[in-house]
Amino acid sequence: MTSVFGHALISHVSGRPHTHQAALEILPTEGFETAIEEITQWDGYAPTPLYSLKALAESLSLGEVLYKDEGARFGLGSFKALGGAYAALCVLQKQISLILSHEVSFVDIRSGKYAEETAKITLVSATDGNHGRSLAWGCQRFGAPCRIYIHAEVSEIRAAAMRELGAEVIRVKGNYDDSVELARDEAERNNWFVVSDTTWPGYSEPPRDVMLGYGVMTKEINDKLNHPPTHIFLQSACGGFAASVASALRQYWGYQTPRVIIVESELAPCLYESAKANEVKRVSIKEETIMAGLSCGEPSEMAWKIISEEASDFITIPDNIVAPTVRVLTRPNGDDPIIEAGESAVAGLAVLICAAKQLDLKKKIGLDENSRVLLIGSEGVTDREIFNTIMEGGKNVG
Ligand SMILES: Cc1ncc(COP(=O)(O)O)c(C=O)c1O
Repeated sequence: MTSVFGHALISHVSGRPHTHQAALEILPTEGFETAIEEITQWDGYAPTPLYSLKALAESLSLGEVLYKDEGARFGLGSFKALGGAYAALCVLQKQISLILSHEVSFVDIRSGKYAEETAKITLVSATDGNHGRSLAWGCQRFGAPCRIYIHAEVSEIRAAAMRELGAEVIRVKGNYDDSVELARDEAERNNWFVVSDTTWPGYSEPPRDVMLGYGVMTKEINDKLNHPPTHIFLQSACGGFAASVASALRQYWGYQTPRVIIVESELAPCLYESAKANEVKRVSIKEETIMAGLSCGEPSEMAWKIISEEASDFITIPDNIVAPTVRVLTRPNGDDPIIEAGESAVAGLAVLICAAKQLDLKKKIGLDENSRVLLIGSEGVTDREIFNTIMEGGKNVG
């Protein structure tokens, strides 16, 4: 492994984990159970693999490295497939129940019983790729029109993937936060429904359903484990992914839940800054990170409530260790599997490799030869051109 990891500037701030109430109250166990029961009935559902990367663990002097590979999730390339589509179904259920003045079921919407009503409900969202793909896919499955707002830097391959799923894709000048704003404004003016993966004051229901949908992934992990991991690294943008996983782990493992470590790009450190200030902080994105899925300047308020009570550590990483980490997974030692990961999937592993070279960092996050580390490879290859460039040694050194 190359020296880029030894020299990388990794910033760390300690969290203030306490009470653990939010993890139980905001995303209740019954909410997770309802989402799991529904999503696991969808056509094409299959659990994604959880690998134990033994050779990698040995090379990093750790007890175990577990890697949940979300690349194959519903053929959409990322864990986000679980959230947007489920939240879309929840919005449709609520709206159609209102229109018809009686409660309709998920299965009736899925089976097309209310196709006429569904076709009149437009769902919209901003995205940097993965969430929009999930929403577009859900809308296509359930028969609802879909509009997706993307910012200037979202790759054309990712935009095309959403168009192929029937969404109208609108490219917005500016960054992710600008696309969120436009989606919100246009929805308000046109009576469309925003299905966002992030909350803001007065808007929380669909993002909560998004986070509950992610619970499928955590349940699959828990089902495979006899003992809790000691650490989990959760790469974050608005924080919905981290909040969902941290909540579901807390509910399952109780006081034995793993130490939660939040990892962000140093170019989009909104949770890191929030941890420093001990309140929600917005940051402005001046440059886009190579980890497109993690480029977000504003935490989800609801996610922050959970993360602030659960996370022990907040870490930011530079872009130049991302491509080398993607390459590490494709060139494994020993019997470890070859894994093709997207840029946003490897943030936690990048920190682990740096910690093996930077002993002060290793100590700060309490890693040693007894540590059993859980990583979630949150996306596979969602842009083949970028992946090929990385494999050819591009998108930074290493
Ligand atoms: C692959 C991937 N991993 C992690 C995240 C972070 O998720 P969240 O925005 O819920 O923090 C994203 C967000 O888009 C993503 O696409």
